[in-house]
Amino acid sequence: MSEIKKIAVMTAGGDCPGLNAVIRGVVTTAIKKYGLEVVGIKNGYRGLYLGNFVKLDLQTVSDILIKGGTILGSSNKDNLFDYDYIDENGQPQHGDVSDVGVENLKKEGVDALIAIGGDGTLTSGRDFSRKGVKVIGVPKTIDNALAGTDTTFGFDTAVATATDAIDKLRTTAESHNRIIVIEAMGRYAGFLGIASAIAGGCDACLIPEVPYDINKVAEAIKENQKNGKNFALVVAAEGAKPKGGDVVVQKVIENSPDPIRLGGIAQVVAEQLEELVGLEARATVLGHIQRGGSPTANDRILSTRYGSHAVELLMQGKFGNIVALKGSELSYSSLEDIIGANKAVEEDSFWIQTARAMNICLGD
Ligand code: F6P
Repeated sequence: MSEIKKIAVMTAGGDCPGLNAVIRGVVTTAIKKYGLEVVGIKNGYRGLYLGNFVKLDLQTVSDILIKGGTILGSSNKDNLFDYDYIDENGQPQHGDVSDVGVENLKKEGVDALIAIGGDGTLTSGRDFSRKGVKVIGVPKTIDNALAGTDTTFGFDTAVATATDAIDKLRTTAESHNRIIVIEAMGRYAGFLGIASAIAGGCDACLIPEVPYDINKVAEAIKENQKNGKNFALVVAAEGAKPKGGDVVVQKVIENSPDPIRLGGIAQVVAEQLEELVGLEARATVLGHIQRGGSPTANDRILSTRYGSHAVELLMQGKFGNIVALKGSELSYSSLEDIIGANKAVEEDSFWIQTARAMNICLGD
């Protein structure tokens, strides 16, 4: 007899397409295959602190596969190990309230937790695991930067969204003989930027892993002009930085696990290229559009597999791990190993090799 009878699932951190598909995968496998009881925790770790549980059954998840966002809500600020809260006297306090989370799981009769999220969510997942909570993580992020898995869900949809935007910007750039600089998300990794630049057939792509020289980008556009192309599409990943320079920071969110919000590089690069190339330039920031909408078929399949496999791992007693995709096979990786070990776009990866082979200027 398994010791797992009732499980909780939560989504935390920035949202992305596929979260609902994972929830559906978890709930369906848990109920249909193993006869478990499932509850959802509302709004990530804040809901765990507040004891905000909702029952999840087959009916609840029956039509959520195609929906973006998360039916459970999310929060990317709430780390219960380092938390701002109001005490019983109404006074603002700050500290480790993780015991409240553990206690709330016990009170609710929850035997194990499935935490769906990125870096911050899984860091807390590891920390709750160290406190004895039976945790399985599901790796989410449009940035595709999490270690321990080949691919995170949400990435494929974000690339498709960015590529669709680039296709639309291509026609207007061509009509007006303009340079359009497209700002992609991705935080400190260039996967989303370079994937979109390859899929969108762009002229240049700036990513965090390859510090750029703006003069090199201008030269590449001028070279294309000599060959009769009088417009240019340039992807600038939000974390890209010039050689010897730094990232462009949009804002700082004090109580967030990662307080820095990047943004603004496209405008900077557009102004520089206008000056250097002599073509009019515009910047388009794709922003949170990359996180929205219905997941692609690939993301629906990956998310469904992840959700279902998370339950399998729980039932096999493989706590303290994330579900992972290795090649085409589902596997798992230790939360202890993956935290703080984010992936980057490597020089010898097919990403950079393909970009270079397609004459996409990386600014180096
Ligand atoms: O990590 C996902 C991500 O969308 C990044 O690509 C981006 O830098 C960040 O989250 C934006 O965070 P927020 O939703 O807090 O603006």
